[in-house]
This record gives sequence, structure tokens and C-alpha cells, in this order.
Amino acid sequence: MYSVKKITSDMYWVGVNDRKIALFENVYPVKNGVSYNSYLILDDKTVLMDTVDSVASLQFFENIEHVLAGRKLDYLVVNHMEPDHCACIGAIVEKYPEVKIVGNFKTFVMISQFFDFDVESRKIVVKEGDTLSTGKHTFAFAMAPMVHWPEAMVTYDTTDKVLYSADAFGTFGALSGNIYADETDFEVRWVDEARRYYTNIVGKYGVQVQALLKKASALDIKLICPLHGPVWREHIGWIVEKYNLWSTYTPEENSVLIVYGSVHGHTENAADILANMLAERGVKNIKLVNASTAHFSEVIADAFKYSHIVFACATYNMSIFPPMQVVLHEIAEHNLQKRTIALIENGTWTPATVNLMTEALAKLKNNTVLDKKVTIKSALDENSFAQLEELAKSIVEDLKI
Ligand code: FEO
Repeated sequence: MYSVKKITSDMYWVGVNDRKIALFENVYPVKNGVSYNSYLILDDKTVLMDTVDSVASLQFFENIEHVLAGRKLDYLVVNHMEPDHCACIGAIVEKYPEVKIVGNFKTFVMISQFFDFDVESRKIVVKEGDTLSTGKHTFAFAMAPMVHWPEAMVTYDTTDKVLYSADAFGTFGALSGNIYADETDFEVRWVDEARRYYTNIVGKYGVQVQALLKKASALDIKLICPLHGPVWREHIGWIVEKYNLWSTYTPEENSVLIVYGSVHGHTENAADILANMLAERGVKNIKLVNASTAHFSEVIADAFKYSHIVFACATYNMSIFPPMQVVLHEIAEHNLQKRTIALIENGTWTPATVNLMTEALAKLKNNTVLDKKVTIKSALDENSFAQLEELAKSIVEDLKI
């Protein structure tokens, strides 16, 4: 049975919620699922904004058929070619052979790579600033390269002031009836997943996100319709400001994230004691994370949130303990900047992770690594405990609380 939502007088959400998915992109755990949003506009011509993942095609086509109610589909606008949104393009063409496909030059290169239907006779190539009139509505196209793939673009309905924002302003999490962000306690229940989505999916491309935000700031936007998660119609400034912070690598929390990689518990013990020392000195909202049990995507999200990050890590095979290797590699891959970093190493015969972690993070720019380091030999002793206290003082001084 169809499951659609009417958003404006002539625009419908025809997407699908996927609550069976365990790993988004086969890598990110999504315990609350994910939505693949698609929107259908009934104007003189009918317009579909993107499709959905192939796993959701049955529901998707029921939704489209219901809203079209016997009309044909005139246009499919492809804002993003990642398969969680483009997978049903071939099936759309099969079902609605007269459909014209709207995309940019790069979109059509990718369509030809993913599909083998006749693209040439259907394609309408658009570039920055081009428009498409469908009757009452005029759609303007703006390129959004690397938000999140090179071909990504956004579409602005100049008539109803709707921004179809592709991956931007999306979040992990399936929708539960409430399609608007303001119908949920977004700031409590959704924001962590929105941050985890942003930081892991597009966090690396802050400069490109800033470019898109600049374009968006020139528009009068009444609705933001992303490809994942709720639609924004109120507090648009709030989510735009979050994107502004995240894309400029500006910390949201002036506090300390302690990430530890501990084999037998002694490094964890040091991390725990450091957290106590910080708390005694007035630091609030400290977060302690076990790199072995947290998914790296959660650590990335936290790393984008906190101003100060302590990495405490055991030496393992004369290298960085593997779970911490993953975390550091991913942080380095996501261009994290403007952070103060502190390092703690442990090793029973040759503690080596201060140097190794320094190397692992070397390509990141605009971070400060505190001079105070802690070296533990097997377990904390008087000497390393004193180093830990010095480190705590140094962090608190730097926090300026
Ligand atoms: Fe939701 Fe980049 O795809």
C-alpha cells in the first residue's frame, strides 16, 4: 500500500523508510534505519526529484503510482547519483519511457556508467543557474560538487521557495510519521545522528559545503527537502548554523573527548583517572570513548563536536592498537581542524604510540598538540600519575574555563 506525505498543495514526499538496513553504505551502523527521500511535484508537467535505493523500489513505485494517479511522469531530476538515490532510474525509464532526465554533465557520465538504457534521447543537461519551467513552478539548478559526490547539485523551486538539497541537511534515521523536523525533538533525539551523518559522509569537504551554504544564503528558503531524514520548514537557521559550524570545523563543545585504546585495562584506567582530574578542575560534559567498542563513525562525530581530544593508546605489535588505528586514520581522512590534541601512550617494554599517533595525525592542519605527554609502562605509577596531573592542568589551562 502507498505511504506518501503531502507537503505542499502539489508536492508529495514519495520516499521510503528502510528499517531493515544494518549498515548504511555497508559501513555505518544505523540502528534507527534511514529514509531515502524522493519528492513528486504535480504541475502542468510532473516532476520527480531523485529516486531511492533498490531495496525500497516496490514501495517507491506504489507511492509514485498513487500520486501520479494515472498521469505520466514528465521529468526526473537527478540531484545525486549515489545508488541510495539513483538505483531506480533504470526502472523509472522502463515504467515511464517518455520521461526526460534532468542532470548536469557529470550526472550523465555516471548514469552511463551505472545503466545501459538510452540516455541520449532523454537527457536535459543543466548547468549552474539554468532553469526548468513546468507550468506554475520554475526550478533553478545549482551545482554542489563534493556534497557529497562530484556531480551533486541542488534544485531550488523559485515558485514555492523549496530547496531540494540532495545529501545536504540529511540525517541517519528512518522517519516515524513526522516528516517535519519541527514535529520531532530534533535537538535531543536527532542531532547526534545528523552530526554523525554529516561528519562521516561530507565532513571531509568543508570548503565545498561552505560554498553551497553561500549559495543557499542568497535564496529565500521556506522548505528544505533533503534526501535523508526530516524536511525543514521551521528553525531553518538552526540547522544551517550547525552546518556552518561543522563545515568550518568549529567545535560545538568547549570540553574534552578522551578516546582510548586499551588491551588489558591499564590505559583505560589512565583515561578514567584523567577524566576525574579534569572534572575536579571544573570541566563539564567530558566524554570517554572506548575505541574498541565504539564505531569509528561515532568517534568522528564526537571529534567534530569537542574542542579538545585526548588519545590514550596502548602499543601493540610495536604499532598503534588496531581499533585506535582505524579511529586515527578516519580522523585524518576527514580533515579535522582547529582542535587541541593530547597524547598518552602505554607499553610494557617499548611505549611507542605518542610518536606513532603524532605521525598518524600529521597531515591534519590547524591543530595544536599539547607539549605535555604521558608515558605509561604497563600500569600507572607515581611518575606517570604525576604526568597525567600535569596533562590535566595543561588541558584545563587551554580550555580557558
Ligand atoms: Fe545519500 Fe551521497 O548519498
